[in-house]
Amino acid sequence: MIKWEERYSVDVPHIDKQHQQLFSTLNNFYEGLRNRESDENMARMIEKLLLYAKEHFATEEKHMQAVGFPGLDNHRKEHQAFIEKAEDFHKKFTSGKLLLSLEVTNFIKEWIHNHILTEDMRYKGMKRAMRKSSHTGG
Ligand SMILES: [Fe+2]
Repeated sequence: MIKWEERYSVDVPHIDKQHQQLFSTLNNFYEGLRNRESDENMARMIEKLLLYAKEHFATEEKHMQAVGFPGLDNHRKEHQAFIEKAEDFHKKFTSGKLLLSLEVTNFIKEWIHNHILTEDMRYKGMKRAMRKSSHTGG
């Protein structure tokens, strides 16, 4: 289980909320494993996590762009690497090549934990006024 604490806060309320949602999606996983849910249900949970992670990363990248965070490209790569890994888990699991275990779940947990505490913290405090860009066009 992973519990959201104040130290995970990046001082952006809607992003904190999404991180909390990510934690609870992951906790559903632990529950599923513990309750020996069917493979079908577990696969659905991975899909849910993937969908949610993608949505969250998009929101976060938009935020970083809006505040002019200089490490956006690298950060985006980290997000992509995670999605690739999780998609790989999903593919292997649904084709019977991977047993969903605590190791897999812990990998996801550790990644999220480290990512928020090191990478996400880099944009914490960057709150340039979020006004609409005055120039038109791309
Ligand atoms: Fe991030």
